Amino acid sequence: MNAPEIIRKKRDNLSLNENEIKFMIEGYVKDNIPDYQMSAFLMASFINNLNDSEILCLTKAMIESGDVYDFSDIEGIKVDKHSTGGVGDKVSIPLAPILASLGFFVPMVSGRGLGHTGGTLDKLESIKGFNVNLTKEKFRETLIKNKVAMGGQTETFVPADKKLYALRDVTGTVESIPLITASIMSKKLAEGIDSLFLDVKTGSGAFMKSIESAKELADRMFELGEMMGKKMAYVISDMSQPLGDYAGNGCEIFESVSILKGETRNYASKLVKETALMIMRQNYVGKSDEERENKYRSAIDSGKAYEKFLDIVRFQGGDEKSLRIKDLMYEKKYEIKSERDGYLFEFDTYKIGIALIYMNAGRFRKEDAIDHKAGIKIEKHLNEHVMKGEPIFSVYADKDNDDVGILLKESFKISQEKGDETKLIKVSRGA
Ligand code: URA
Repeated sequence: MNAPEIIRKKRDNLSLNENEIKFMIEGYVKDNIPDYQMSAFLMASFINNLNDSEILCLTKAMIESGDVYDFSDIEGIKVDKHSTGGVGDKVSIPLAPILASLGFFVPMVSGRGLGHTGGTLDKLESIKGFNVNLTKEKFRETLIKNKVAMGGQTETFVPADKKLYALRDVTGTVESIPLITASIMSKKLAEGIDSLFLDVKTGSGAFMKSIESAKELADRMFELGEMMGKKMAYVISDMSQPLGDYAGNGCEIFESVSILKGETRNYASKLVKETALMIMRQNYVGKSDEERENKYRSAIDSGKAYEKFLDIVRFQGGDEKSLRIKDLMYEKKYEIKSERDGYLFEFDTYKIGIALIYMNAGRFRKEDAIDHKAGIKIEKHLNEHVMKGEPIFSVYADKDNDDVGILLKESFKISQEKGDETKLIKVSRGA
């Protein structure tokens, strides 16, 4: 077996067997296959797609590239939620402590920003001292003692995905249903969970722009997870505008805290709540929707969920005193205003994500450093009425950057008519 032969086979749209896929993945992780051959392999897989059996083999080969966590000795339901990524999507941050305060264990291995989308790890690192680099042992200890462990991939946890993810990011091979399926599911299946909830995004800020492609991705992941013995559920949710009021890193921690304290009512808090309720239903917690709703309300109103968040911060080395707004975000630098009266008709959310990268809230290159205090407040949402001169965005930054202003100005349309109503949750399965 050799790499050029396997690449040629995929280029010619022939299907690969388990050994060929294993050969590519093992070889790449061991540095026997260089980036240029793996890039060609990824592009051939992107263009010609992988069938279900190839996706299963790829996922298994990726899982086998490192450690698999096993928490079966821990009594209790181990759950996780994973989003395919978007702009302003902070849901995992308030959700993890809420789920723990409802009695679940939450082993959550998250990622960094990918392309124009933000990442949970970058957001958590806005909290001074917060450590996401948990070894296998530390991750387990954290989960047992605190019910939640929020970490990142390590050199030994699905190392194949760590390398492939970085390569896909810079070779135009991110938006592929088979590659995203294997990437997400390899990490989630190695995480030691009983049950997985997927939030597949669709719209201008998502990798899957159409609802059809989002559904295809969601069904692929759902079926793969069930085949591997996990209790699966998903939603397809809206990413045609940034989720909630803030997009960036520190500012999303600020918004997450406010959701945990029950102080924010917007699409982000709504998605957090709906997801928690669906995860309860998926795992037969609570006898009725009313009982689940009461449990959720009491987790927020009693302050238990927020206390749990503070436990997570302390436990993972973070400084709870650095959760004040001035620690998490810069002062407002300027506003992007509407030039006419009308309704907010459309966002190009992808452009907002790119503007955030120009503010260093995301990365163009792997090695770029994140400016955690830079971010944007979304002052108006889809279908809201806007007057000439009213702000659409507030920009929180310490320096000016022309690209940011240009991109944000281009990222919305004001119309005399209202657009279609945005439905936050478009489809659900399994919950
Ligand atoms: N999130 C992942 O973990 N992997 C992808 O490929 C895309 C989003």
